[in-house]
Amino acid sequence: MSQYDQIQQALLDSPKTWLITGVAGFIGSNLLETLLLLNQKVVGLDNFATGYQHNLDEVESLVTSDQWARFNFIEGDIRNLEDCATACENVDYGLHQAAIGSVTRSINDPIMTNSANITGFLNMLVAARDAKVTSFTYAASSSTYGNHPALPKVEDNIGEPLSPYAVTKYVNELYADIFARTYDFHSIGLRYFNIFGKRQTPEGAYAAVIPKWTAAMIKGDEVFINGDGENSRDFNFIVNAVQANILAATTSNPEAKNQVYNVAVGGRTTLNVLFTALKDNLGINGVNYNQAPVFREFRAGDVRHSQADISKIQTLLGYEPQFNIIQGIEKAMPWYMKSLR
Ligand SMILES: NC(=O)c1ccc[n+]([C@@H]2O[C@H](COP(=O)([O-])OP(=O)(O)OC[C@H]3O[C@@H](n4cnc5c(N)ncnc54)[C@H](O)[C@@H]3O)[C@@H](O)[C@H]2O)c1
Repeated sequence: MSQYDQIQQALLDSPKTWLITGVAGFIGSNLLETLLLLNQKVVGLDNFATGYQHNLDEVESLVTSDQWARFNFIEGDIRNLEDCATACENVDYGLHQAAIGSVTRSINDPIMTNSANITGFLNMLVAARDAKVTSFTYAASSSTYGNHPALPKVEDNIGEPLSPYAVTKYVNELYADIFARTYDFHSIGLRYFNIFGKRQTPEGAYAAVIPKWTAAMIKGDEVFINGDGENSRDFNFIVNAVQANILAATTSNPEAKNQVYNVAVGGRTTLNVLFTALKDNLGINGVNYNQAPVFREFRAGDVRHSQADISKIQTLLGYEPQFNIIQGIEKAMPWYMKSLR
């Protein structure tokens, strides 16, 4: 039995109360689904800035009515300390996902990104500290590596941030560290590397590449590649990221706390290879996309290559990614076929 299997069994035997901020978003709603299926009690906080009621409705359709009854949704804003304090009441494990994502959006509107990602984050730290939650796990980002050229990325070697978004995610780590030193409040930061899977929106100018391209291919629209297609990423399927959160939240290893971890697979896929992988998988599912991609300018703030060293999270938290990118695409495809039409 893996460490993760043991923890899931322990949670089933002795359910806890979790807080998920950003619960109506992509990662938050996937955390919600897994935790409800494990019979946990979940408090969710979201203001629907980039999240959707339909994500919550879909989770409701996937769990039993008893499991759904263990979910308490609070429509509220992390920029409001009172909302954060209310959400943290009687919580064992906090999973802080709420933020305004997207490098490009942060370049277009740095104030919006800053207020949710820094003021909101600080509010959540204060509220979680005051509520004496057992653990506080937060969504950090691979963008914190900025212009550091080394590959694969190792947690201690970061460069200069390349966007307002990256600044905010780095500031989260700095605040988390200061809270450990100043208030003895320990947290864990998870530097996600390009997570993908069901309920990640293809909509809007700031959509992530996998749902955006898959939706375009299903509809027969043009697929745009920013740059020459040789930018590469360590794409990580959502189920692996959920595992990382549950392991981080429940760890009893003192050395594992007050740390940041890469959350990835440890692979590297170029956008050109991704394009072919999506096209091929759609072909197997009866969608034949015969157009070539349209190349356009590189996007400001994007890093050229990204690939994680995942040895730290494997060693200290027992993380074992269950899906590589191809397996993740296969697993996500039925949802894409149903939802992205
Ligand atoms: N998806 C990725 O590949 C990726 C990579 C690195 C980091 N992250 C981080 O992971 C977290 C979750 O990302 P996601 O992909 O699920 O994005 P998402 O946009 O789907 O989810 C974010 C959620 O936070 C909510 N939110 C935003 N501002 C809020 C506020 N002021 N108060 C309350 N709720 C608010 C949104 O409504 C949304 O439901 C974010 O912190 C993001 O920065 C994601």
